[in-house]
Amino acid sequence: MKHFLTLKDYTKDKILEILELAAKIKLETKNRVFKDYMPKHTLGMIFEKSSTRTRVSFETGIYQLGGIGLFLSSNDIQLGRGEPMSDTSRVISRMVDMVMIRTFEQSKIEEFAKYSKVPVINGLTNEYHPVQLMADYMTIQEVGLDKDLVVAYVGDGNNLAHSWLMLASKLGFELRIATPKGYEVNQDILNDALEFAKESGSKIIIGNDPKEAIKGSTVVTTDTWVSMGQEDEKEKRIKDFDGYIVDNTMMKLASNKAIFLHCLPAYRGYEVSEEVIESKQSLVFEEAENRLHAQKGVMVWLNKQLKK
Ligand code: CP
Ligand code: NVA
Repeated sequence: MKHFLTLKDYTKDKILEILELAAKIKLETKNRVFKDYMPKHTLGMIFEKSSTRTRVSFETGIYQLGGIGLFLSSNDIQLGRGEPMSDTSRVISRMVDMVMIRTFEQSKIEEFAKYSKVPVINGLTNEYHPVQLMADYMTIQEVGLDKDLVVAYVGDGNNLAHSWLMLASKLGFELRIATPKGYEVNQDILNDALEFAKESGSKIIIGNDPKEAIKGSTVVTTDTWVSMGQEDEKEKRIKDFDGYIVDNTMMKLASNKAIFLHCLPAYRGYEVSEEVIESKQSLVFEEAENRLHAQKGVMVWLNKQLKK
């Protein structure tokens, strides 16, 4: 059974194949042509954390493909009262055709996938957010920056940083990550990326100087300093991330053709300034829209694998 739990499991060819499919379906969608790629399919959508984009894009996406999405908040299903993942998986996957989960540890989604009869998609865990990166790369491709790509990720060494590590090391582009000391990326994930980079030719630079990372880059990106589940650390984090805001001074160091990306939600005045997120260089809303298209590509692709 093929799942979509992390880009670690995907080759460059497969990632590009899904993106090509997503671009084709996006064009159809833009022309209001909705083909029944997944007629009468049900997508179970389990959320253990809040969401705007992931929920709306998956629910709209499966509907446009001819199916229906079931929004399953852990507050409302027995999972939230302690029913094991393994039981939840064995029940839900007998009734639906595909499952998307947003949860805490990656091990929880792996547990679900182990027991699932249907493909499982990661809609964000503490470690990874692979569907977000599919939308991000789609946005980069659309503006032609996928050639000679140099991405600067400034901020927390979190699920987004880890997903950038996977994408860069699989596709072979240069990635520079700058985090404050103590907020570095997970060492095991970095080691995996460095291993993949040997094959792809990706250059991965890890450091603590945001200006150094941004200098000459063609994509500048960041993420919230306080991820879901870290609310208690908010005050400390805001102090520790001092100097990491992506503002005009920082953006001026990037290439003059550089774009700014952010998975959203964004916290203006913290990881990004109002002027940068509202600037012409900012493609954050194109990026958010691409969640819909990229994920339709992922769903249709996974569904096709079942017939092989
Ligand atoms: N970027 C993202 O995943 O947004 P949501 O938390 O709103 O789904
Ligand atoms: N790193 C953030 C991303 C939100 C889409 C979080 O995990 O909360």
